[in-house]
Amino acid sequence: MPFRAVKGMNDVLPEEVGRWQHLEATFRETVALYGYQELRTPIVEETQLFVRSIGEATDVVEKEMYTFERHRESLTLRPEGTAGAARAYVEHARQAKEPVSRLYYIGPMFRAERPQRGRYRQFHQAGCEVYGDKGPYGDAEMIGMLVDLLTQLGIGDLRVAVNSIGGAETRELYRLALLEYFMPQLAALSDHAQARLQINPLRLLDSKDPRDIAVAAGAPSILELLTPEDQEHWDGLRRALDALKTPYTVEPGLVRGLDYYTRTLFEVSSTAGDLGSQNALAGGGRYDAMVRGLGGPEVPAIGFAMGLERLLLAMPDSKPSMAPFCFFAPLGAAAAPTALALARELRERGFRAEVDGRGTSLKSQLRRADALGARLVVVLGESEIERQVAQVKDLAGHSQREVPFGQLAEELVMSLQSSVPSAERAP
Ligand code: HAM
Repeated sequence: MPFRAVKGMNDVLPEEVGRWQHLEATFRETVALYGYQELRTPIVEETQLFVRSIGEATDVVEKEMYTFERHRESLTLRPEGTAGAARAYVEHARQAKEPVSRLYYIGPMFRAERPQRGRYRQFHQAGCEVYGDKGPYGDAEMIGMLVDLLTQLGIGDLRVAVNSIGGAETRELYRLALLEYFMPQLAALSDHAQARLQINPLRLLDSKDPRDIAVAAGAPSILELLTPEDQEHWDGLRRALDALKTPYTVEPGLVRGLDYYTRTLFEVSSTAGDLGSQNALAGGGRYDAMVRGLGGPEVPAIGFAMGLERLLLAMPDSKPSMAPFCFFAPLGAAAAPTALALARELRERGFRAEVDGRGTSLKSQLRRADALGARLVVVLGESEIERQVAQVKDLAGHSQREVPFGQLAEELVMSLQSSVPSAERAP
């Protein structure tokens, strides 16, 4: 059996990589306008970091982590980026350097989920985290930035769901309200939900089991229980979203699957493109207790992450971009070294050049130049080398001329400069 990539983990082939680069570049450019700087953390962290921050009774920690032991240490491939970012923030005492840190990351994440369209075991996230801003206006700015970014990427039919799950006091009130609601219906819940109920009844609200969904449909809304401070935060968020004209829907059932959230929660989904059922493009929220919980100071935080594979499924197709370039077709042993030297001269001047090294017929070399989308082809045969000239074919203009070696580099540069770059992408 030939080797295959691990199930749920994908290669990104050269034909697809242009769309990835376009997506990543747009993300970097947009978040830089808001003052975010890149943070790179290791892909592997201590297992306990995720257990403590994401929460024991979550799907991610219970069944999706890639955990292994080395040198008697339990390590885990990061299932998400927030815990590592907060760990780095605390470890490097960033609060002493700047009162507000705006950080972003792009990279692979790992969750042992059941693979399907839009859901993979190695997938990629681009995420933003802000430390030191307690909101709610920064929360609205972040949601607005995310929506603008997705729109700029050409993704339509967006649905922005927001909710508040309050601070610790609100959540304790809500926990009791949920226990009171679920306990009399315990028998109607899945076994898994029954086991989780005492640990964290909030998790029952995002259960995928039809029995739990049916019971949870009638559960009380947390928005009824917000403390005055949480209510003020929630009202401020909505006022700011209205001022930004960012459309949103209040979804009191939105709890998200990670235990670290406080107050603001949001998720953006879409029905565009080939998304299918895995249509959550991005999600995030406030996690004011994490930095303190990891041994750092009292620093509020908020963030989100977007799934790059899902964005690519939702984005419209764009034309691959190609810099105008020159293809060298040497014929015979004497021509090849001359072609190598000429190609290098072009590259030194910033132009892409490729030399066909296969030693095949002119016809086959021209076919390859065409397939690659070359603008110019320089044909060097034995008689040309003898006469110190080259045949320059303009594939776009369908013309051919003979150019002496002495003028060749200059002529090629001029022609390439004048050719219309096809670098602009279709929106
Ligand atoms: P999350 O909702 O678990 O949040 O993941 C964010 C996004 O990553 C999802 O909306 C989805 O697009 C993508 N995603 C998640 N799992 C998969 C998968 N198995 N395959 C493909 N894409 C996937 C977080 O990870 C939080 N760390 C977000 C955050 C940042 N909250 C605060 N700061």
